[in-house]
Amino acid sequence: MARPLVIAIDGPAGAGKSTVAKLVAKRLGILRLDTGAMYRAATRAVLTAGIDADDPVAVAAVVGRLRIDFSAQGAVQIDGVAQDETAIRSPENTREVWRVADHPDCRAHLVAQQQAIVRGRDAVIEGRDATTVIAPDAQLKIYLDASPAERARRRVGDWSGSGSAPSVEDVADEIAERDRRDQTRSFGALKRSDEALHLITDGLSTDGVAATIMAHAVQRHPFVLEQAVADQVIVGRSRQPGYVAVADGTAGAWRLGLTNPTPQRMPGSTTTVTRNRGGRQAGTLVQGSAVLVFAGHAAEPGHLMAVPMLPQTWYVIEPGAWHACIQAHGTICAWAETTGIVEDYAPLDSQRQDELAAWLGVLVPR
Ligand code: DC
Repeated sequence: MARPLVIAIDGPAGAGKSTVAKLVAKRLGILRLDTGAMYRAATRAVLTAGIDADDPVAVAAVVGRLRIDFSAQGAVQIDGVAQDETAIRSPENTREVWRVADHPDCRAHLVAQQQAIVRGRDAVIEGRDATTVIAPDAQLKIYLDASPAERARRRVGDWSGSGSAPSVEDVADEIAERDRRDQTRSFGALKRSDEALHLITDGLSTDGVAATIMAHAVQRHPFVLEQAVADQVIVGRSRQPGYVAVADGTAGAWRLGLTNPTPQRMPGSTTTVTRNRGGRQAGTLVQGSAVLVFAGHAAEPGHLMAVPMLPQTWYVIEPGAWHACIQAHGTICAWAETTGIVEDYAPLDSQRQDELAAWLGVLVPR
């Protein structure tokens, strides 16, 4: 069995881990493990247990008995009971998390549960020690970062506490204190490992950051691609030049022409997607001498749900529908002439253009 895909994301508070991890997990159709939610839930259990929170032994004893996981809807739960999101994310609870997070026994207990949740599964894990302790073997490790000012602005922007939002300065101070705690704890401290890709998210769109992460994941783990388009990839693929016969099981054999790119065949637009009637879509982007072709399925033209393809790999999306390939300069290109397709052109909105630019930045660097 293929080794599961694990994308581990660490970084300080406010770097955008949760938003990005959610998006990547959704786009790839895989599990997202929010380990911070587990620390938050454990902290709330400590605070409501009526024990002396300054007594580390008592804290560890309470936490050590908790079974923490997630409901099918994604709510963090303790012993099968879903926890109140607002309560675990309240400023009061957030201020106390260090009592659990600093304690080696609490951490060991939570890490064991985190590893059990992702065992044998494809997952995006976000936290402080995802790349170093929870999943040191992850295929892709990301250290997501942003400047302290940007992180404080984001936190104020999604303020969910009671009363009016605090000032950016106050939040910046609080974040600095959390950074200090996160980076200096003796076990499971936040560290940027050498293997982790350091992504600084100031000024970047969430879609762009998520696309960058997916593009790196695709390079390390081709499975990602198959997973993302799995419902549509029904015929076959090849890395060989020449003619390949493929069969879909219903319409008989297909012949696909593989050929070298020529200038006349270079698809032309960087801002347009084409779509067929069923919502499947294909589009092309040209960057220098490289052509990125993407394909997938989306309800709206221009709303890209597609995933760009690996260099020199072609995927037939469906007989009678669109093929897709990536064509780098001088490499093979595959396409299938199709019948019965009603084309439908639409501009890509700026969000989707950001996303594709991020893919290109990784897969087809200048
Ligand atoms: O990611 P978050 O802000 O929801 O995390 C809440 C706190 O939990 C954070 O201050 C540090 C701690 N934490 C941790 O120590 N280890 C993790 N893997 C995740 C979170």
